[in-house]
Amino acid sequence: MIGIFDSGSGGLSVLKEIRARLPQADILYLGDIANAPYGEKSQQELSALTVRNIQFLRSRGAARIVSACNSVSAALAVSLFDTLDITPDALIEMVGPTVRHFRDRDERVLLCATPATVRAGLYQQGFGMAGKELATVAIPELAGAIEFGASEAELERIVRNAFAGVSAEGNTLVLGCTHYPLVTPVFERVLGGAVRVFDPAHAVSARIEEQFGPHEAAGKGELHFAITKDSAPFRSRVASLWPESADAIEVVQ
Ligand code: DGL
Repeated sequence: MIGIFDSGSGGLSVLKEIRARLPQADILYLGDIANAPYGEKSQQELSALTVRNIQFLRSRGAARIVSACNSVSAALAVSLFDTLDITPDALIEMVGPTVRHFRDRDERVLLCATPATVRAGLYQQGFGMAGKELATVAIPELAGAIEFGASEAELERIVRNAFAGVSAEGNTLVLGCTHYPLVTPVFERVLGGAVRVFDPAHAVSARIEEQFGPHEAAGKGELHFAITKDSAPFRSRVASLWPESADAIEVVQ
């Protein structure tokens, strides 16, 4: 079984891609809504939440883990895998596969992400190691606003503010927070045709298929959800993406 976690609904954008590639895999999704949003928390808080999330998924039988949350990737550095009691081949996070996707491409990349992700600097480090430049835009508030169902007008105001004074023209815009692909049209409205929008879930799900696929081939395609706080927006997203799993949502402490 594959265990996926995020602060809330963001990882559903990754789950959608995984289901398309590995329909037979059994999957348990954990949304830590009681602690959402993650993107403005300290590194120390994020490390503690990451350990808890991984322990929960493993206690429910997940042998392989996907961190569908960019904001916690710094807590998943290879040197910490022994601390997490997990081996690198059993865990996939967002940053590595995304950097690899762009490594040999001749594109100007602009990353937008939570303040925690921009502050952690992993994307900048990865692009730097590949000899490439990366521009970044931190967007405070947006992930939380998406999670808790803010209006389109409010989402647009937040995105507009974040990009005020940024010259995005001609860039590939990487949505470096898994909540953002849930509202891609808002980015397209604000930035017009000036950018090409890229969802890292494409690169990450390809890695998951390659690395986890052979181990998950004998599954039954079961899909379960656990959330740490009940949430109507989360329930309605699951119902619209996977109507057959709408009842498979458990609230856990
Ligand atoms: N969706 C997560 C990410 O990719 C967390 C966003 C948040 O909770 O602030 O960073």
